[in-house]
Amino acid sequence: MSNLEDIAKQMVAPGKGILAADESSGTIKKRFDSISVESTEENRRNYREMLFQSKNAMENYISGVILFDETLRQESKNGQPLAEVIANSGSLPGIKVDTGAKDLAFNSNEKITEGLDGLRERLIEYFNLGAKFAKWRAVITIEDSIPSDLCINANAHALARYAALCQENGIVPIVEPEVLMDGEHTIERCYEVTKKTLDVVFNELIAHGVNLKGICLKPNMIIDGTLTSEKSSSKTIAEKTISCFKEVVPEDVPGIVFLSGGQTEIEATENLDQMNKIGNLPWNLSFSYGRALQASALQAWSGKVENEEIASATFDHRAKMNSLATLGKWESELEK
Ligand code: 13P
Repeated sequence: MSNLEDIAKQMVAPGKGILAADESSGTIKKRFDSISVESTEENRRNYREMLFQSKNAMENYISGVILFDETLRQESKNGQPLAEVIANSGSLPGIKVDTGAKDLAFNSNEKITEGLDGLRERLIEYFNLGAKFAKWRAVITIEDSIPSDLCINANAHALARYAALCQENGIVPIVEPEVLMDGEHTIERCYEVTKKTLDVVFNELIAHGVNLKGICLKPNMIIDGTLTSEKSSSKTIAEKTISCFKEVVPEDVPGIVFLSGGQTEIEATENLDQMNKIGNLPWNLSFSYGRALQASALQAWSGKVENEEIASATFDHRAKMNSLATLGKWESELEK
């Protein structure tokens, strides 16, 4: 088990965080549509290789990269496996192993994440391809009468089965129960639903024998629904998030790596920074951002080889800003 604990600690080393580059085929197509670039296998490779070849960011700020199945099997333009490009920079390759959130039967407004069948065999293959950690994302939606207990319980059960299988096969599980920002709910409702969800998730993880020192938790922050007119300050978001997690996240968990979930790049950085400015926490607080690390870099790249350098510098800047936020040392002045 100790190797798992070492990897989990390495994933949340102070000053470092995770790049979520595991967009599914559908999601990466949406991202590419936004810059009018066709989502071909080559374009996906070129874009992601540009990120992984960003030497300064990868060596200094990015502890691990979550990959989609296709990327773990791809090679760089020079014929080197992309997982090796990542590992050579001192960062850890990881793999998204769920197969997506589907409608929960009889509750079509709610989702259940699939992918458990055959997972043990896939994990063995991923381990042999160099994956050190994995990710499974559960999705919890807030509306007036949901989430149901059924949805929370079913997703927590699946997360725990996934996490136990990962640890059995030498892979650190990122446990991601995402309470969506989408909706009209208040920040208080987000607090209440997140607290309940995390509580059930940790009960299930413990019931399945998961070693909490060998996981990373990837949650949402406690934040207002996107459709409310309320917009809490970064300080309030930070205080509420920490207070919620102190109630339900066991101290054995080495690190919490947030998703950005639709926050802007600056919001995601500022909120993380505020939490680390509060400090004196039992777990390291870091990032596992997708959009909040990539949005500007994707725009800068726009599918052109001649833009690779500027796109890489753009990614390096965001990675550095978030690295500072993991230390509570970010200032808005640094964005200029
Ligand atoms: P965002 O930071 O864009 O929410 O993506 C993180 C992620 O990996 C969601 O599963």
